[in-house]
Amino acid sequence: MTLIEESVELILQHQTHTGAYLASPVFAHYQYAWLRDGTFSAYAMNRARQHESARKFYKWCDYVIRKHEAKARAAIASVQAGLVRNDAGNDRFLHTRYTAEGEEVAGEWGSFQLDGYGTWLWGLAWHVRLSGEHDLIQELKPSIELTIDYVKACWQLPNFDCWEEGGDRIHPVTLGAIYAGVKAMEPYLSNRASEIAQLGEELRQFILEHGTVNGRFMKSVGNDSVDASLLWLALPYGVVAVDDPLMVRTVQTIEEELLQGYGLHRYPADTYYGGGQWLLLSAWLGWYYVNTGRREEAEEIAAWIASQRQQSGLPEQVQEHLLSPDHYKAWVERAGQPAVPLLWSHAMFLVLAAELGYKH
Ligand code: BGC
Repeated sequence: MTLIEESVELILQHQTHTGAYLASPVFAHYQYAWLRDGTFSAYAMNRARQHESARKFYKWCDYVIRKHEAKARAAIASVQAGLVRNDAGNDRFLHTRYTAEGEEVAGEWGSFQLDGYGTWLWGLAWHVRLSGEHDLIQELKPSIELTIDYVKACWQLPNFDCWEEGGDRIHPVTLGAIYAGVKAMEPYLSNRASEIAQLGEELRQFILEHGTVNGRFMKSVGNDSVDASLLWLALPYGVVAVDDPLMVRTVQTIEEELLQGYGLHRYPADTYYGGGQWLLLSAWLGWYYVNTGRREEAEEIAAWIASQRQQSGLPEQVQEHLLSPDHYKAWVERAGQPAVPLLWSHAMFLVLAAELGYKH
């Protein structure tokens, strides 16, 4: 079985009957479903022509949002009434991860993350495009509109980033996800088209004005470090084109500061499990290379990712090179071995394989 087939099988195997994808089936902290990981898994399944699986996931997103509708409406009202303090730790906002049944997970977590709420809308539009299931948008319209109301009300608040950190800041990539999500829905919501277009423009302008330094994007507003997730601003969020000078400079900085061999680190100060190389990010760089005429390097990355496969699948991160080796052991003692298999790693491998035109 090739890694492509295996990845499809693995993602199907860990999709629950409710449609949720579990981030990692054996790593205790990841036995839940995230909007972010889940959407990229669904997108990968669409690229692998597994539309039924992706459809089930988007139905699950709809279910979760309807289930927490009252909370979402209360959060919107509080923000609009100016009642919200700049404190992403408070629990009045929608969470980022849920149980398969769509329940919030109890316990301390940086739960207030907005990127997933943009990402699922972005992914849904791709699902419809790739599967031809146009009726789904109509069916999910109340959740879609509620999500747009929610991100519109909240996007200027500090919230945790895609690594579930930095809850006291605003992150260009989070805004990029929201931008991509609302823009993806613009063609389907003709009654709100101009409102959505305006929101999209505000987000884009904000990113360009406050999220850049020295001709490149930066990790967070007020933190001019680099982060490999900034790649997403071009692919797939489309805030700028892949060859925009800002993105070219950002990628150069990512290559200089975060790339070791074929393995990409998240950001220079990462200490989580010693700050290893994240396979899903390497795949992302490969995705970028395919789209900028660097196919050979993308092929090398794909081969390297495949070489990192362990018995149970692809891990979240590998330790060929650690940014902060001293932290590795402490994390193992605290939370167990690093997550493997991670569905999102398999998903991004599938996306890269599809971009390269690899067949099953
Ligand atoms: C990552 C998140 C991810 C979660 C589940 C965290 O460690 O930072 O991006 O959503 O794991 O995979």
